[in-house]
Amino acid sequence: MLRRLHLDQPESFAFTSANQAWAEAQITKYPEGRQASAIIPLLWRAQEQEGWLTRPAIEHVCEMLGMAYIRGLEVASFYFMFQLQPVGSVAHIQVCGTTSCMICGAEDLMAVCKNKIAAKPHELSADGKFSWEEVECLGSCANAPMAQIGKDYYEDLTTERMGEIIDELAAGRVPTPGPQNGRYASEPLNGLTTLTEYESGKTQYNASVQLAEDIGDTVKRIDGTEVPLVTPWQDKAANTASKPPAKPKMRTAPSALVTETKAKVAPAPASEAQSKAKPERTKAAPDAAVDAGVKVENDAGAATGAGKKPRTMKAPRKAGPDDLKMIKGVGPKLEAMLHELGFYHFDQIANWSDAEVAWVDQNLVGFKGRVSRDNWVEQASKLAANEETEFSTRAKKDGIYNE
Ligand code: FES
Repeated sequence: MLRRLHLDQPESFAFTSANQAWAEAQITKYPEGRQASAIIPLLWRAQEQEGWLTRPAIEHVCEMLGMAYIRGLEVASFYFMFQLQPVGSVAHIQVCGTTSCMICGAEDLMAVCKNKIAAKPHELSADGKFSWEEVECLGSCANAPMAQIGKDYYEDLTTERMGEIIDELAAGRVPTPGPQNGRYASEPLNGLTTLTEYESGKTQYNASVQLAEDIGDTVKRIDGTEVPLVTPWQDKAANTASKPPAKPKMRTAPSALVTETKAKVAPAPASEAQSKAKPERTKAAPDAAVDAGVKVENDAGAATGAGKKPRTMKAPRKAGPDDLKMIKGVGPKLEAMLHELGFYHFDQIANWSDAEVAWVDQNLVGFKGRVSRDNWVEQASKLAANEETEFSTRAKKDGIYNE
């Protein structure tokens, strides 16, 4: 298959400011003169932001890395994970068509895509929401047939389920990824036949499926504010966390071998608007901590100095501690750690400032960043006011707890 740049290209590309900071930080992982090694993660982030890889995006990344545009184009056109044409605004569906999936019904799944999305792969659906393609083995053969949708795998698919998933996505819902036939992983459909006594402490969903549910970014575009920017290698190298990340030099590509034809096309990509506007601050944004005058520590160090330590209690109040496991993301292990740190009640957590969140985020060894990622403060505020959150309602009803 010929992989070429799309004919219609936007005028320009810019990372959102948070993605730009992330990209600049990635470049510093590599020794001087080897910055080109960052090409794949940077192209990937550009695609995560835009949905597909535009020529201005490839050029922008090449300029950041001091590479000839043609080198960036070679990488982008070689790897099928890079989409060189616009994809559906809601989801791009990649149906595996290799042996296991093929003999288990991949062609039927593609027929659903043809029927519901577009007759040909890489064509947009009439409403622009979906696109699809056939891809080579995605390594999930024991759960054939399967498809990757956005960032996640949907496995053990049937034509009926495939159709439902597309309908759900069109209606604005994101179905839970993973096996679609009730399997937890790739065990026999009738249940385990060995190691039946073994208790692995499993979560509600298996591995990456749980992560997908927790993070909720299956088909979302990434603007860089989703999780805090953590750059342990910089702190290790400099051993001075107060130093700002070294800014890579922007170099002009030595030779632009891709013919320069200014594109007339195209509605401005979403990112243009985003890049002008300061990305919306989320609880997880690294600059929240910076604004609060705190030092964002590296992941590896003992970060007890980062942020501001919240007030703690020596013991819970007389009525006993609150069930902190009602906060999404807090399991028995984290609850015990919180107790050890002196936090027993929802109202304690509800009152944490940004700087205090940064401190706790850095001091939950093995769970760093959880407080902001799962927005504990907002959850705890509701629970402290005797209101329910979506998670606490579910946990009480179904007895589902965090790991
Ligand atoms: S054959 Fe489809 S995932 Fe391997």
